[in-house]
Amino acid sequence: MDEKSLKENLAVIRQALSRAHRVVALTGAGISAESGVPTFRGAEGLWRHYRATDLATPEAFARDPRLVWEFYNWRRDLLAPLRPNAAHLALVELEGRVPEFLLITQNIDGLHRAAGSRQVLELHGNIWQVRCTGCGRITEDRTLLPELPACGACGGLLRPHVVWFGESLDPMVLNRAFKAVESCQALLIIGTSGNVQPAASMGLHARRHGAFVAEINLEATPATGAYDVTLLGKAGELLPRVVR
Ligand code: APR
Repeated sequence: MDEKSLKENLAVIRQALSRAHRVVALTGAGISAESGVPTFRGAEGLWRHYRATDLATPEAFARDPRLVWEFYNWRRDLLAPLRPNAAHLALVELEGRVPEFLLITQNIDGLHRAAGSRQVLELHGNIWQVRCTGCGRITEDRTLLPELPACGACGGLLRPHVVWFGESLDPMVLNRAFKAVESCQALLIIGTSGNVQPAASMGLHARRHGAFVAEINLEATPATGAYDVTLLGKAGELLPRVVR
């Protein structure tokens, strides 16, 4: 994208944001890429000889909870030193300016909250939280967990409080996300490939309800042509320019 058309597109997005009272941002793995978060797909998604997508399932946990916990402890260890980048920080700034703002993220890394975002809806949960498979209690725990961690309340087996492949999203979380998407005047979609539902349909949903929709991504996605504006490039470089 040349600098002239980039500037024109930035101006269009800024104008839409300045008019909007209700703004939603939807983020995916791409916003955390510049912080060094490894992705689940491709070569980075391999742990030992396992594919991450084969371990992040309820079946894998039922079969071998030790192995799944070993994998999550490894991921937690990798994520622990990582810090929010300029894109996360730009969204904190945007939240401070907009009367009603909601950040919907598919990321489980917790970097939006670490950056200082307040209104955050984590569609796929959070890797720093654990949930008891017995009593359902959810707690935050950043320590290195034992191979089979137990619930402090009932002694049941804990699992990561994340949504695994093949599991449904929390209906309350989903409902809140779609309500916000339907009623916002501007939606920013950042760093998501648009391959995983339900987030993949939120852009078109917002558009149908009359919102301005802009996308920031390294590459075009299946829905790119249907949005008002797409900025191709790194979120850490483009988002601060949107918000500036
Ligand atoms: N800036 C902007 N976009 C980027 C950057 C960057 N620095 N780096 C990568 N991207 C883009 C990629 O081009 C890709 O289109 O971010 C997108 C990331 O896509 P996915 O890896 O598919 O991530 P996401 O859309 O969040 O995946 C959804 O699937 O892996 C599961 O549950 C996991 O929440 C995840 C869900």
